[in-house]
Amino acid sequence: MAARKIIIDTDPGQDDAFALLFALGSPAELDVIGITTVGGNVPLALTSRNALQIVELAGRSDIPVYAGCPGPMVKKLKTAEYVHGPTGIDGLEAPDPVTPLQPQHAVNYLVDKIMAEPEGDLTVCTLGPMTNLGMAMAMEPRIIPRIREVVLMGGGFFQGGNATPAAEFNIFVDPHAAHVVFESGVPLTMASIDCTYTAQMTPEWINTLRAVGTRSAVQAANMADFFRRYGSHKFPTEARPIHDACVTGFLLAPHLFQQRLCNVSIELMSPETIGMTVVDWWHVTGRRKNCNVLGRIDSDGFFALMLERLSTLP
Ligand code: RIB
Ligand code: CA
Repeated sequence: MAARKIIIDTDPGQDDAFALLFALGSPAELDVIGITTVGGNVPLALTSRNALQIVELAGRSDIPVYAGCPGPMVKKLKTAEYVHGPTGIDGLEAPDPVTPLQPQHAVNYLVDKIMAEPEGDLTVCTLGPMTNLGMAMAMEPRIIPRIREVVLMGGGFFQGGNATPAAEFNIFVDPHAAHVVFESGVPLTMASIDCTYTAQMTPEWINTLRAVGTRSAVQAANMADFFRRYGSHKFPTEARPIHDACVTGFLLAPHLFQQRLCNVSIELMSPETIGMTVVDWWHVTGRRKNCNVLGRIDSDGFFALMLERLSTLP
């Protein structure tokens, strides 16, 4: 069976790097035809540079990288250097990227590519604020029925939020873009923090990854070690959630995830709850069940698969 065509929209971010490397280590199942970058964890110039470093690390500088929107549709950009470090992928020891960014804006690339590919062939994975995809849908609504599925890391429900008590970072940064996507009618799968908090990366797993000894494995372990230092005030153990990698894990092994179709809407009105993903878990609104909400993950199976795939990279 042909590999599934995907575009990854991302704001690297160490966990974005794991999602990218996990996908690049799975060429039989996933064909990463393009990467688009967005302002999020760190400003756009850095997320774009980081994406280039990651594809070069994996020996895949053939994959085109397109820079997109520097900030959200309406709000002012909020970054997360406090989590990811000043570069956004602190921990990585790699040369400056030599691969150029593509000249086309990521939003125009998304529109052109989705319109050019056969209908229903292309999956869009968003690992950061959904600005690029939201703008593409606003610019050219005809792309909506042509997208096979949008698989996103974002949101939260029983776990609340990690940017505010109510909102997860990716949705909080650009709730208006998320609203456009969630109301568009496109098939959605959401890996919220309720899912990603169950994918806890342990120091032991990181050490096993480092022992693989390849440059990709060692550098991924370096990024993980840096990423792991944040969150000791939140998590009771030394393990940390590797959020974005859950998107790749779902594409490769959906059986590892609990799943539930629900209506999910984005709260936009209150300064206290803006960016909240309102999950109608018990279907009390009667609204369309627009989203496959991912729940608990089989963490052992997930990390075994990710180790196996990361080990195939140079
Ligand atoms: O809330 C976690 C999300 O915010 C992840 O995508 C992480 O990379 C940051 O972008
Ligand atoms: Ca991210």
